[in-house]
Amino acid sequence: MVPKKHRVYLTRVLPGEGMERILRNYDAEVFPGDAPPDRETILRGVRGREALVCLLTDPVDREIMEAGPLRIIANYAAGYNNIDVEAATELGIIVTNTPGVLSETTADLTWALLLSAARRIVEGDRFMREGRFKGWAPTLLLGRDIYGKTLGVIGAGSIGSAVMRRALGFGMRVLYNSRRRKPELEEELGAKWATLKDLLKESDFITIHVPLTEETYHLIGEREFRLMKDGAVLVNVARGPVVDEEALVEALKEGKLFSAALDVYEREPEVHPDLLQMDNVVLAPHIGSASLATRSRMASMVADSLDDFFSGRVPKNVVNPEVLEKLHLKPR
Ligand code: NAP
Ligand code: GLV
Ligand code: GLV
Repeated sequence: MVPKKHRVYLTRVLPGEGMERILRNYDAEVFPGDAPPDRETILRGVRGREALVCLLTDPVDREIMEAGPLRIIANYAAGYNNIDVEAATELGIIVTNTPGVLSETTADLTWALLLSAARRIVEGDRFMREGRFKGWAPTLLLGRDIYGKTLGVIGAGSIGSAVMRRALGFGMRVLYNSRRRKPELEEELGAKWATLKDLLKESDFITIHVPLTEETYHLIGEREFRLMKDGAVLVNVARGPVVDEEALVEALKEGKLFSAALDVYEREPEVHPDLLQMDNVVLAPHIGSASLATRSRMASMVADSLDDFFSGRVPKNVVNPEVLEKLHLKPR
């Protein structure tokens, strides 16, 4: 007899082999739209299902978890601030994410944004398309040098360290801030740990790679902008609410920053209307991990999480390991 398939709800179609495997191995229902489903749709979708595969755009609260009732939530992202992990742990639900496989891709995007903001690439592109280029000129679109400058990396985890590694090729001095020092990075890259205050005061370029938590909400606000060097460049590839967007707009208006580049927004997908008007702001639509290879690998990781869980193994990337004890499972 064919065993009864476990029931899974996915809030979106994912690319690659992982999706095919999920459709093959499970009784899967997939939300068909391109835009995020609303809360009611997810609530209805998870009813009678043991597993939820969701995106960073889907807030997952206790009511959704209980509506399953769910046993596992596999988030198709590294960041999992969209999920009430505490509630999941209380309810004995395993939560997994997809870290690591996207770090190099996201670090590449960070550098694409940094280079664009420093060298006014997007502004230059607009200039060309408007037919305004009349020939090489001594003071046309002057930007900032990157080579030999100081890079300040806030959040020296998987992505932050991949960003730092790339800075070596630009002959940069690298400062980083995280709650714990990372001696291996200091040894490998000659990077130096700094307090957030010192990092802000000394860096020409600042990139952000912390998760969004209660502690990192508005980590960069009015006070922090004031500490920055005049003419600094800020790149946020983490989560929008880590930066107080109103304070960022003010810092740009005052000319405190040379420029900024953002992949994430405080009220995503909304963008602060003033940012849309500024030439020295580069805006990307949250595409940090958006290469075909990486998005496929992330989908395979999600499928692995489900396969491990439903075969009685502990999945690889459990973000709430405390739940394992509750479930009488040994950590991997
Ligand atoms: P990770 O490996 O866990 O690194 C995060 C680092 O932040 C940790 O090393 C942690 O070090 C540090 N940190 C945490 N709280 C901090 C605080 N209060 N102050 C300073 N440092 C702090 O995670 P990751 O894979 O690099 O991803 C980082 C974040 O990037 C994700 O959470 C996600 O939100 C975002 N992300 C965005 C995209 C995109 O498309 N734009 C793609 C992937 C990920 P300590 O514990 O030592 O503090
Ligand atoms: C993307 O933002 C992620 O957290 O994976
Ligand atoms: C610029 O194109 C130069 O040759 O300096």
